Amino acid sequence: MSRSSKVSITPKEQSKFVNRVEGLFSPEQFKLSNEDREHWGQDWTRLFEVAPLAVVFPNCINQVVELVRLANAYDYKLVPSGGRTGLSGGCVASNGEVVVSFDRMNQILEFNPVDRLVHCQAGVVTAQLQQYAMEQGLFYPVDFASSGSSQIGGNIATNAGGIRVIRYGLTRDWVSGMTVVTGNGEVVSANKGLVKNATGYDLRHLFVGSEGTLGFVVEAQMKLCAPPELQRVMIACVSSLQDLLSILQCFQKTLELSAFEFFSDLAMSKVLGHRGIDRPLSTVSKYYALLEYDESMTEVATQAFSVCVNHGWITDGILSQSISQSKRLWEIRDGITESIARFTPYKNDISVRISEVPGFLDDVEGIVKDHYPDLEVCWFGHIGDGNLHLNILKPQNVGISEFEKRCRKINHLLFERIRRRGGSISAEHGVGLLKRDFLSYSRSQSEIETMRAIKEVFDRNGIMNPGKVF
Ligand code: MLT
Ligand code: ZN
Repeated sequence: MSRSSKVSITPKEQSKFVNRVEGLFSPEQFKLSNEDREHWGQDWTRLFEVAPLAVVFPNCINQVVELVRLANAYDYKLVPSGGRTGLSGGCVASNGEVVVSFDRMNQILEFNPVDRLVHCQAGVVTAQLQQYAMEQGLFYPVDFASSGSSQIGGNIATNAGGIRVIRYGLTRDWVSGMTVVTGNGEVVSANKGLVKNATGYDLRHLFVGSEGTLGFVVEAQMKLCAPPELQRVMIACVSSLQDLLSILQCFQKTLELSAFEFFSDLAMSKVLGHRGIDRPLSTVSKYYALLEYDESMTEVATQAFSVCVNHGWITDGILSQSISQSKRLWEIRDGITESIARFTPYKNDISVRISEVPGFLDDVEGIVKDHYPDLEVCWFGHIGDGNLHLNILKPQNVGISEFEKRCRKINHLLFERIRRRGGSISAEHGVGLLKRDFLSYSRSQSEIETMRAIKEVFDRNGIMNPGKVF
């Protein structure tokens, strides 16, 4: 349950809104109840108040355009809502905004096998696109634990990364074209699926990662690729965070990894407890690395494994022998977010260049030891991309506000280290509300001013997702 709101939404305001949108939407296309507003007005963070005025469900681009025009005319603020799996409050509506859900715009419109492009609406769920690609004998490689609910529009708005970035890159790399309804109510078709297009600024990349502050991504042309061969999964026991980097480099010398993830024993224990599954290996280690690679490289991987054991970087390991065993091993990594959700974790999603990771790990370990000795700190993430998830778990007897205050205080120390190393305070979750006050640790004042100026171009009245990012 989210925090109850101090903003009160009156039935009078709601009925005024209904009168204004009645001609545009059918009755089943808007929701007003407390339950519905709470459901659609937030993401997976549970730290913010939730108080939208209403939720609307457009079913075509034209309805989105009309809604944006109406919002400009009557000064309604609009908050985009996709699968609501975000982790930084990017689609939380706390101040009487109108939430715009893309649940009804969930169709795959066209597939072109020559271009290998899928033209889809924003509300298509990631797993739906992955499944569709498979049915065409192709592959959509961007993947994460929330694939079953996250939507393509939201993935684009946050430039979602996930577990296979090391091999396939981020959502940005798979968007070949997109249609956006800007905050001014204009429809922009960016790039139109072209491979080459040297005609000035590529607006597509401006909208990717803009967190709904410039407009609504309503449609996209997503690239597909040839499927990889069967994958093998290995979990290796690792004693120190530093050793993880040595293991990564050792494997990368001789094979291409599809994934290189890590998690602490605390993270693993939470998943095992929550899902009621057995430990995959008897050795208990401080950390674990999960590696995935093409089956044809099994022998090469086994050699790399032996080298790591000889150096003392790996103390034990398990290698999947079947698809179902691979799935079981992945379940431990994929289940972390869900398993720790009940501890209202304060999430840090931070990154540095890969070459900076060893020094950065020392910095972070020092801060954690000094400042969180009494708290459970759950480590995991995509260390192969230089991206760490540091989740501080809230003790049951501490209130949310007090806990958040404490975590935010230490943010400054952590983010100062990140600034010095030229890293990012948000690697893949976005800035949203959670990291907004800390943006200057990663972006200069002039960059922030430039972003504000860009926002004004596309959203002159500031109706699009106000208060997010900056
Ligand atoms: C993940 O890597 O599992 C996601 O970024 C979610 C999370 O950090 O909780
Ligand atoms: Zn992640």
